[in-house]
Amino acid sequence: MKLAHPHLASLEPYQPGKPVEELERELGIENAVKLASNENPMGPSPAAVQAMEAAVAGVHRYPDAGLHALRERLAAMHRIAPGELAFGNGSNELIDQICRVFSGHGTSGVHGAPSFVCYGLGLQASGAERIVVPLRAGTHFDVDALLEAIRPDTRLIFIDNPNNPTSTHVPAAALERLLSALPEHLIPVLDEAYVHFVDAPDYRSALELRHLNENLIVLRTFSKAYGLAATRVGYAIAHPSIVADLERVRAPFNVGNVGQAGALAALDDPAHVERYVALNASERTRLSTALAKMGFAVAPSQANFLFVELPDGSDEADVVYEALLRRGVIVRAFGPLPRHLRVTVGLPEENDRLLTALEAVLA
Ligand SMILES: Cc1ncc(COP(=O)(O)O)c(C=O)c1O
Repeated sequence: MKLAHPHLASLEPYQPGKPVEELERELGIENAVKLASNENPMGPSPAAVQAMEAAVAGVHRYPDAGLHALRERLAAMHRIAPGELAFGNGSNELIDQICRVFSGHGTSGVHGAPSFVCYGLGLQASGAERIVVPLRAGTHFDVDALLEAIRPDTRLIFIDNPNNPTSTHVPAAALERLLSALPEHLIPVLDEAYVHFVDAPDYRSALELRHLNENLIVLRTFSKAYGLAATRVGYAIAHPSIVADLERVRAPFNVGNVGQAGALAALDDPAHVERYVALNASERTRLSTALAKMGFAVAPSQANFLFVELPDGSDEADVVYEALLRRGVIVRAFGPLPRHLRVTVGLPEENDRLLTALEAVLA
């Protein structure tokens, strides 16, 4: 049966990182380590867990569709109006909403490669044409190439800063140049899922650059630094008219009460996020140094993961990936990138497991 709309026939569904339980079941092992989905290995704030436990008592009622408390809290935190916020079932849902509202048949959207795979999926699902711009040296956004790729029918340009999977950032000057140069018919989407992990002095959040481009949409998520990936809470900050447009396609009650409660409580425990960010920074350095010593080329990471090129002469990425799985370590390989792996920075003992397994696999 071929019942799907023709423009969806070639769409490859999103492939998530392999779950720990699945690998343990397959291999009959315990204590597998997942360094595949850029999650917070420390878990969420205990205060968020407590708030979510309390919220469970109310799950027989639909949640607050307007997310009043979380909206007010985020508006105060970002010093914006509550009407400049849109919410999604994870920022992934917002990417999808954005594509459905602002692109479609007869339009195009620009994204980098390699970059977050869901931009292409969202564009294709909307019926838009994807314009794929390779990253400079395979690791860094090329602002000139992005600008050159724009056509009269282009409606969206997606940039994740830092970028998944390369872990690199767009320096402030380049981002300012891009936002200032974009034509009026185009919406730049700056996805800042990994913003908390950045320490480069030349980075600026697009939230500070909104004056340069009225159409700008900035995406944030509770899935990474806040450790709430499974609750699926993401938000967009944009002009109220863009928020109103997104509202047109938002599914009713798209963010549950447990997620809303967890997100709100997580915002009230910034010390928890700071502890994780500090751990990530020190482990990121330690892991980068150890992998470089083993012969990997490690991209300069501003995120909670590393993008590494395998040492010369080693097996291809899919072979190394499988060999690591057999040792109970789950990382991420990407079909179109035969020499690269993406590795989430985990807890110290998890990173040690990875290093030990890699030494054995590459020996
Ligand atoms: C760049 C980027 N944006 C968005 C997401 C999706 O996050 P969420 O859990 O909020 O849907 C991810 C998840 O890996 C990501 O890497």
